[in-house]
This record gives sequence, structure tokens and C-alpha cells, in this order.
Amino acid sequence: MRMGRKDVIWVDEKTLAKDMSGKVYIVTGANSGVGLETTRQLVKQGGHVVMACRRTEAGEEVAKSFKGLKGSYDVMRIDLADLQSVRDFVAEFLKKYDRLDGLACNAGLVTMGREIQRTKDDLEMTIGVSYFGHFLLTELLLDVLKKSAPSRIVILSSVVHAGSPKNRHDVHLEDLNYQSRKFKNFAAYGEAKVANVLYALELANRLEGTGVTTASVHPGWARSNFGGKGLLMTIMRVLMAPIYPFWTNSNEESAQTSLHCLLSDDAPRHSGAYFSQQSVLYRDKQCKKGGWPMESPNPNARDIEKANKLVDSSYGIVGLERLNVP
Ligand SMILES: NC(=O)c1ccc[n+]([C@@H]2O[C@H](COP(=O)([O-])OP(=O)(O)OC[C@H]3O[C@@H](n4cnc5c(N)ncnc54)[C@H](OP(=O)(O)O)[C@@H]3O)[C@@H](O)[C@H]2O)c1
Repeated sequence: MRMGRKDVIWVDEKTLAKDMSGKVYIVTGANSGVGLETTRQLVKQGGHVVMACRRTEAGEEVAKSFKGLKGSYDVMRIDLADLQSVRDFVAEFLKKYDRLDGLACNAGLVTMGREIQRTKDDLEMTIGVSYFGHFLLTELLLDVLKKSAPSRIVILSSVVHAGSPKNRHDVHLEDLNYQSRKFKNFAAYGEAKVANVLYALELANRLEGTGVTTASVHPGWARSNFGGKGLLMTIMRVLMAPIYPFWTNSNEESAQTSLHCLLSDDAPRHSGAYFSQQSVLYRDKQCKKGGWPMESPNPNARDIEKANKLVDSSYGIVGLERLNVP
């Protein structure tokens, strides 16, 4: 019997029993938290998972726990805060593999402190890793995803993207890279996560008819390494300890939404949609119970014109020509 929170939405048993032998997946940030448990289940079901990790030694270490599972894995290096590293990863992947059945753009972070942090390419770190790094990765993999269709792209967003009815997060197309705006770390996280939802929406439109489908995901409040082990997070975890078990999810619980989007028969019927685990953090009460799929309460994350503009700007920002317009 499953232990844990009662309001967690679980993938159905039939989906979790599917044989995924012969299928190839990429999971970014596979060495930790949601990415690790997503990877574990795919390997359990016979899939081959390319664990795209910034710290390959951490990937190799956690993968020891997959011993005895039916599928297989390959730890490969990617630093989403370095666009050349993303290009190198794709070149290496395409040398080794000729198919890709599922891409989970899972890695993400929130920077701590007031100081803006930047990637190797001078992008703001939060949106640089969560969105721009994954944007380049996805665009460079579209051909192999199309060739392997039906295939799926799952993009991790967060309940945080929703903001509140009075203060919705939005992408600032006029200054995506914080050249002239004041930086606030949690607002930057909310903005990056709106970008993730919009990209899933835009891709779904662009890829209609190709057999490649997309989804954006709120995984739940995971007891992962998110936020790091710095002083602020440690204090927060200590202060919240009494309510933590009631409000938060195990990493296995938090992998369910990604797994539903990667494995279920139903998810591809809703390409571009937002799938959310339950969350006490929704400020819109009707959203708290989550849904597969559900409508984002944030109108900025449902705006296809905005999504198109974001993607147009993104090509220039990552230095990519728009080659993949069907
Ligand atoms: N935790 C939550 O409650 C929560 C809620 C909503 C959404 N999410 C989203 O869920 C996703 C997974 O988060 P998690 O909770 O599993 O957090 P986590 O345990 O901190 O895992 C994050 C993963 O991202 C990787 N990563 C960070 N920067 C990277 C970079 N530059 N290049 C490559 N990989 C990088 C990390 O690698 P290292 O181990 O090397 O740092 C780690 O593997 C994130 O997108 C997060 O925004 C989480």
C-alpha cells in the first residue's frame, strides 16, 4: 500500500506497468529530487535514460541504486548555464543515439540572495538554466524527436508561475535578461516558470501533426535539494519542520506528474497543456487540488501571442537560426 499524502495524484498502475524497453529518454537534473525519481521509474519500466547532469559523479553515484532494475542508463554531462555545454551534449548524444522518445526538461534552480547571478553566456541564471538552456537543448533535439515520433517533451514549471490574482508573474519581453530591471530572486523564478509554460504551449502549436507532443508540469512541493543547503533554506526547513509533512511531497510523489506526461496514453491528447500536482501554494483556491491537465490561472501563461514572441526572442538570445519551422 502507498504511504504518503492523501491528496497526491498518482499515475495509474496500468501506466506504471507499461514495458518501455527500447525507448530512449533524456532527463536533465537526473541526479537529484524529482529528476532522480522520474529516471528511476523509467528505468524500472525498461527504458534507457540518458541522465543529463551538471555533476556527472553525482549522477553515477545515485544510479548505483538502479541495480537490478530492468532498464539502463547513461550519465552524460550538461551544464545548462553554458550554451556551449548544451551544444556539446547534443552533439555527443546524436553520436551515440538515433532515437529519442521523451525529453524531460527537469533541471532548475532559484538563486539565493539579492545579487543577480549570470550564466557563462551572461544570461540571468534562473531563466538562463530553467528556460534558455532547455530551449536550446530542445530546439537542437527536435529533429530526432520528430524522427522518433510519437515522442514527448515535458517541461518542469512550478505553481509559483501562477502568482496571485493581484500579482501575476509575466515574461518581460523588453528585458528578458535584466539589463535595466531591478533583480528579485523569487520574481525571477516566477518569470522563468511562466516562460516554461509558454514554451510548452508554443511548441505544441508548432509541432502539431508531427507526433511530438508537449506538457508543462508543476510537480508538487518536493522534499528535494531545491534551494540548496545554504543558511536561508536550512532556517526555513527547521522553522517549517512541524508542517512540512502535511504540505510537502516525497520525491517519488513529486515525480508522478512528469511520469504521467511521459508515459500515460492520455497526456498526448492534451499537447501544450499544464499538468499540476495538488498544492497549498496556489493563491487561486480552485487550483489547490491540481489537475491533469488543468488551466493555468495565470492569463500571461496562456497567451499564445506572448509565447510566439518569447520564442522569437529566444532564438536570437541563444544564437540559433529558426530552422525547425515545419
Ligand atoms: N522542489 C519543489 O518543491 C519544486 C516545486 C515546483 C517546481 N520544481 C521544479 O522541479 C524541477 C526539479 O527540482 P527538484 O525539486 O528536483 O530540485 P533539486 O533536487 O535541486 O534538483 C535540481 C536539479 O537541477 C540541476 N541543475 C541545476 N542547475 C543546473 C545546471 N546549470 N545545469 C544542469 N543541471 C542543473 C541540479 O544539479 P546539481 O545537483 O548539480 O545542482 C539538480 O540535478 C526544477 O525545475 C524545479 O524548478 C520544484
